[in-house]
Amino acid sequence: MDRIRIVGGPPLEGTIRISGAKNAALPLMIASLLTSETLTLENVPNLADVGMLLRILGHHGVDHSVDGRKPGAAPEASRPIHLSARRIVDTTAPYELVRKMRASFWVIAPLLARMGEAKVSLPGGCAIGTRPVDLLIMVLEKLGATIEIEAGYVHAFARNGLVGAEITFPKVTVGGTHTALMAASLAKGHTRLVNAAREPEVVDLADCLVKMGARIKGAGQAVVEIEGVASLSGASHTVLSDRIEAGTYALAAAMAGGDVLLDGARADLLQSALDVIEKAGAEISVTNEGVRVRRNGSGIDPVDVTTAPFPGFPTDLQAQLMALMTKAKGTSRITETIFENRFMHVQELARLGARIQLHGDLAVVEGVEELQGAPVMATDLRASVSLVIAALAARGETIVHRVYHLDRGFEHLEQKLSGCGAIVERLSEPA
Ligand code: EPZ
Repeated sequence: MDRIRIVGGPPLEGTIRISGAKNAALPLMIASLLTSETLTLENVPNLADVGMLLRILGHHGVDHSVDGRKPGAAPEASRPIHLSARRIVDTTAPYELVRKMRASFWVIAPLLARMGEAKVSLPGGCAIGTRPVDLLIMVLEKLGATIEIEAGYVHAFARNGLVGAEITFPKVTVGGTHTALMAASLAKGHTRLVNAAREPEVVDLADCLVKMGARIKGAGQAVVEIEGVASLSGASHTVLSDRIEAGTYALAAAMAGGDVLLDGARADLLQSALDVIEKAGAEISVTNEGVRVRRNGSGIDPVDVTTAPFPGFPTDLQAQLMALMTKAKGTSRITETIFENRFMHVQELARLGARIQLHGDLAVVEGVEELQGAPVMATDLRASVSLVIAALAARGETIVHRVYHLDRGFEHLEQKLSGCGAIVERLSEPA
């Protein structure tokens, strides 16, 4: 298995191009199941999760093709993907596929809405918590589906089609909102979502659905109105820039020091995190190209942060912020409210010399003068990258194991960091 070797010390100086958002690309790709016409997506990041989802969609009958590289384009430049679900060949998503990627459970919504039936494996737990799908099932039931749960599968039927309804979410859920947007777009009549997720990735999905002919108003607000249509058409859509990737590199620059331009980053999607990074002592400026992050000379100040649904501080940046706080001049308090088990990075950060105490959903981080490189491994995507951030400012060498977690969500991580002067390399194991 590949590993990543990092030698801490050098500041980050230069430009990092921000990729398309994984968490927007995945639901957008799944939306291709809603139409027999072609959906073209631009700015899809080249990630392991995208490759996995293409295989899962292929199982349901989605053909895909990727445009050839434009003359003169960089080898890593993303290329448009065309997805065509002209004929759905299988409405069952088996355990072997769904267990590899939780988001693939979301295929249940377009399959049910278009075919009147879907059978999808329950995804099971994962490293960051139990992550139930009860609210996604509630959405489908409200829209008139009959649900049977049997032998680890959710079997949903709506032989005469789905019917619009009022759906109030007892808890904000991104996946639940994606599910509702896709299913209600093809339901008969009007659907109203109350307490919907306001994440930018939800807005991106709604924007694409509207291009496909859906009638959606209010995406990005807590109340969303959807008027169902009989069918959706093909469209072309550019995937939103990845706010979590941008926030991760902003935190990396704050940790290592230096001056980095996050090219293509959208400050408006990242305000809560940028405010925190500024409080921690980095200078943030918004330019025409993106967001510039600088920290020269000044130390890192401690901050108190609680994760929350958008526009609050994202849970997907909690581990990375904790890495920064390990070197703050004082004690920080970080509270995780979204997932109950998202502190798997704490033990690994401790291996680098961090002092962190856990009290339920609260982590108390006492900043240390110096971190020291060590071999580490992590259990999920954001936890892994928090170790990379800590390693950038640790004395000596850190080896990060289980790099496949990073490959699920960070495109060209080593190139992006080493392009700014970090000493980062992938150690590939012979196959
Ligand atoms: C999405 O997961 C993201 N994944 C996650 O990113 C992100 O952490 C999360 O939203 C929160 O922002 C993708 O977009 C692919 P939720 P999702 O439904 O939709 C509970 C990353 O690192 N809940 O908003 O699965 C749930 O347990 C990943 O890129 C229920 O109780 O998250 C959690 O406590 C990890 N019942 C809360 O709601 C349900 O039926 C929010 O989860 C559904 C969710």
